[in-house]
Amino acid sequence: MRATTKPTTADLDAALPAQRGRPARRPPTGEDPSLRAAYRLCRHTTRVHDSGIHALIQLMPTVLRPPCWALWAAASVLDDLADQRDAEQAERAARVEAWTQALQRDLTVGTSTDPVRHALVDTALRWRLDLSSLQGAVTSTLDDVRDRRFADWAEWRAWCETLVPWVDQVRHLFEQAGAPMTLRLDRQQDYKRFIDGAQLTDILTDLGADLTQGLLLLPQEALDTYPSAEDDLRQGRWSPATAALIRELTALARQWLTRPAMTTGMHPGAATVLNTAACLMRAQLDAVDGAGPTLLKRAPRPSLATRTRILAPARLRSGLAWSLTPLTAPGPRRPAVTKSDPSRAAEADTALQPPPPHPGGARPPQITLDQMPAHVAVIMDGNGRWAQQHRLPRPEGHRAGTAAAHEMVYGALEIGLRHLTLYAFSTENWKRDTGEITTILEAIRRDLDDGPLRDLDVRQRWLGHPDKLPDELVQALLREERRTRNRTALTLTVCINYGGRDEITRTAAALAQEAHAGDIDPHLIGEDDFARHLPHPDMPDVDLLWRTGNEQRTSNFLPWHATYAELHFTPDHWPDVDRRDLWQAITEYSRRQRRHGAAPLVSPEHHRPPRHVRCDCRSCPP
Ligand code: FPP
Repeated sequence: MRATTKPTTADLDAALPAQRGRPARRPPTGEDPSLRAAYRLCRHTTRVHDSGIHALIQLMPTVLRPPCWALWAAASVLDDLADQRDAEQAERAARVEAWTQALQRDLTVGTSTDPVRHALVDTALRWRLDLSSLQGAVTSTLDDVRDRRFADWAEWRAWCETLVPWVDQVRHLFEQAGAPMTLRLDRQQDYKRFIDGAQLTDILTDLGADLTQGLLLLPQEALDTYPSAEDDLRQGRWSPATAALIRELTALARQWLTRPAMTTGMHPGAATVLNTAACLMRAQLDAVDGAGPTLLKRAPRPSLATRTRILAPARLRSGLAWSLTPLTAPGPRRPAVTKSDPSRAAEADTALQPPPPHPGGARPPQITLDQMPAHVAVIMDGNGRWAQQHRLPRPEGHRAGTAAAHEMVYGALEIGLRHLTLYAFSTENWKRDTGEITTILEAIRRDLDDGPLRDLDVRQRWLGHPDKLPDELVQALLREERRTRNRTALTLTVCINYGGRDEITRTAAALAQEAHAGDIDPHLIGEDDFARHLPHPDMPDVDLLWRTGNEQRTSNFLPWHATYAELHFTPDHWPDVDRRDLWQAITEYSRRQRRHGAAPLVSPEHHRPPRHVRCDCRSCPP
């Protein structure tokens, strides 16, 4: 790694964001000098704070370095504010809050008087970063101020997850620049574990400094393995127990950081950055192991020779990889409009809209909260038969089916449903004719690119496996997931290349891996552990499972979630249904008595419909 030197103007010109349409390496002309100075400061802050991170950023394409400096500098500033031991806890927390609130204000005006925020605001607007996802990380920084303790590894890992949004911002930058740091869904676990490994490395490195501030950021579960270790560490004593604990933890961190499959299939430049990060951290762990008692006094660092051995070939590899991939940086952007600035309403690209009304003016029935299903899952069947009936080719049935899927989303929003899951393509659907498969997948991709769901308050998610799916579809699905992750009214999960047995098998495999790694005791595995390892652990049980197309089967759809679902089968072909059919299904559900295995609450001969719902069954009075 290079020794700390001041950045030259030429370096900075090459790295600062170019204006749209110009070659990325050309120095930006007319760029605001205060912005250039702000990015320069961020670069300097990154280098001084963490030379390893600075070296990693140098492995990135030139256009991505300034936004990475801005992100890193912002994280460092927040960390420093939280760590300023000259101030009382409450004062430090207030400083962190004040900085983040100022950032919110700066984002709405598009500039800042504070240089780090100035660069960060430019980065966020230019690269369309959603900084709201960092809120969790900021809250965690505030918690750190208040002194952290973790009972076990599970709690500790949950804390590490607050780092993920920072790393996700960098992934988003790669994607925006045109070199996605693709992480296939089956590697998400590796990714999280890698971040755990990075955090553990950091904690072990800074152990001495943290202890002088009274912080011991390790889970009690780990400390208890060596009974006197915690006491020794807190007293600043190096003992056989502390040495054994540190040895065990460095081995664990090394294991977490070694995830060769994580970068499989990734752009070679992006893979080089991640693999080099892993090598540098393993070297850091070697330094921790070799430090002995001095670990409690100062942060150990790998030798210059070791870092050069890792970084020199990485620079060559990444230089070559990026030279083969031309990347562009977006030009500066003004902030999206806010309510307080209606004069710029036309520029708004993030304002959420209500769903379009039903063409016939139909309105949803009023269903009380306790009668509302939390989660409706739909098997959209009958597209092919609909097409046949209308003497159209089968693909037309799927196109018409897409419009019906939109209708369901509109209806779900209007009636206040929180979770809607649609079965769009099953693992069994690969048996169909290639042309039909392409039509279905292409219809979904096109819908994601220009779809009418874009401006609704809908969090879109994908459930299924990426194998065999076209890469553009996988990227579009992940993009929409990221773009809509903070929306709250409805979670729409679209199942594509999904199979219930496949999901169960993969979940069991993930649990087996954890057991094999010693992270979970196989004898103690319960239903909750299984549920936590499902691809979307927060997905609630299905209350109502509806299938159109006059078939009465569940076809490998959500077996784990739908064990207690009420079933609803209707004869219409999917393209013939609209939001009123969803409301009808929910109305019928609201009349059913759900017992989940318990004894009936009222006489089984007759149910009691809610007062507001007109009941057409023969037992109810008209
Ligand atoms: C089953 O009908 C339908 C499918 C396998 C495809 C469903 C996909 C869509 C409706 C597109 C969804 C789009 C979005 C935006 C979620 P079938 O072909 O089995 O009909 P058949 O039983 O009459 O042959």
